Amino acid sequence: MTNYHKSVLLEEAVSSLDIKPGSVIVDATLGGGGHSEEILKKLNGTGMLIGFDRDLDAINEATKRLDAYSNKILINSNFLYLKEKLKEMNIDSIDGILFDLGVSSYQLDADRGFSFLRDEVLDMRMDRESGKTAAAYVNNLEEEELANIIYNYGEERLSRRVARAIVDARSKEYINSTKQLADIVAQKIGWAYSKLNIHPATRTFQAIRILVNDELKAIEVALQDAIDILKPNGKIVVISFHSLEDRIVKRTFQFNAGRCKCPNKIPICICGAKEVIDIETKKPITPSDEEISDNSRSRSSKLRVGRKL
Ligand SMILES: C[S@@+](CC[C@H](N)C(=O)[O-])C[C@H]1O[C@@H](n2cnc3c(N)ncnc32)[C@H](O)[C@@H]1O
Repeated sequence: MTNYHKSVLLEEAVSSLDIKPGSVIVDATLGGGGHSEEILKKLNGTGMLIGFDRDLDAINEATKRLDAYSNKILINSNFLYLKEKLKEMNIDSIDGILFDLGVSSYQLDADRGFSFLRDEVLDMRMDRESGKTAAAYVNNLEEEELANIIYNYGEERLSRRVARAIVDARSKEYINSTKQLADIVAQKIGWAYSKLNIHPATRTFQAIRILVNDELKAIEVALQDAIDILKPNGKIVVISFHSLEDRIVKRTFQFNAGRCKCPNKIPICICGAKEVIDIETKKPITPSDEEISDNSRSRSSKLRVGRKL
């Protein structure tokens, strides 16, 4: 085991994939390769594991960790492009897919600008080759837009006050570091968090990270694409870490289990919901107390499983 990242719900996720010899399994979020290694053990030299990660550091780490296995292909790409990338390899259908969403412990600890606990350059990009940094957004967005993002992606009730404080602060000095941003937020709304066991900047940082990496759109698109290309009896397994991610997983699963998503006012269904999966987890699987005490990062995780009909 490396200390790059401790895999969450490892046994539960891999056993839910129900891997048969010769299967083609996709790990959409390789990270340190912990889940992938268990998948490869189950494949036992047959079939193929195809791993994706948009972060080159993760690809390099997983390449080292999975060196002993030859039945694998690791791809440095956003899982948004999953279907196209598989198509380029002449793969139209798969037997199983795992999404372990969010960031790895390595990304949080590696001076990549995700952490409000240290003073780092305010970057937050999972893929450092593309897109704008967190600093570029924080210093340039209109106050109203910033407030909406902090509200919608961070579920921060005090988003307007936070946005105001950021705009005031940046008129005096460019906001270039995580500590600067964390202090601005804490000074403004720290009082509201004094009884909660989380840092006052937690929600603001979550919002900016989701914005920088356009995380929710990729999840929405890729979950549907994954369900579309699953073979009959193929499994989709998703681990989410906060309510915005979990809501997308739940809704995508329900829609694909045939639940209409048309507004109540419409007399006939126009959304085209069809029953193509069976939801195997009526309630999500959550980590045991033992796992939570061993790995506090697992605390908020929820695992949902669907089986293609
Ligand atoms: C929680 S970690 C995965 C850890 C992994 N399961 C393990 O056992 O080591 C999430 C990983 O997904 C990657 N990731 C997040 N969103 C992505 C996306 N849209 N496309 C590709 N990779 C993504 C991150 O870069 C990160 O390395």
